[in-house]
Amino acid sequence: MLKISSALIVIGLSMVPVVSQAAVDIKRGEELLQQRCYGCHGEDVYVREKRIVKDFPGLEKRVRFCTQQVNVNWFDDEITDVVEFLNSEYYHFKK
Ligand code: HEC
Repeated sequence: MLKISSALIVIGLSMVPVVSQAAVDIKRGEELLQQRCYGCHGEDVYVREKRIVKDFPGLEKRVRFCTQQVNVNWFDDEITDVVEFLNSEYYHFKK
């Protein structure tokens, strides 16, 4: 029994990157952003001259921080979608 369950864990873990890559959905990121993220700032902060986000990891950090501010409790793949949308639309960081 123990062997079977650890085998399942190994299979489960090895599938994670595949699943999350396939799940990136920029359109959903845009929708989430429109639904939740215009309370405090508009898109002007993403294009202003002195924006605070300087690289891709920083963008993900900032999005996580802002979701905590609003208590939206997105899953990781939803955060990824929003980050990918912001990057393709505004930031254009290399990953
Ligand atoms: C509770 C208010 C609030 C909400 C709602 C909010 N943000 Fe923010 N956000 C801020 C503040 C404050 C800043 C920093 C602005 C500044 O320094 O001038 C910021 C900055 C940012 C930046 C960085 C802009 C830059 O300078 O590069 C990003 C990206 C961002 N927010 C994403 C989001 C996302 C995604 C959401 C939706 C989950 C969201 N924000 C919702 C308060 C909020």
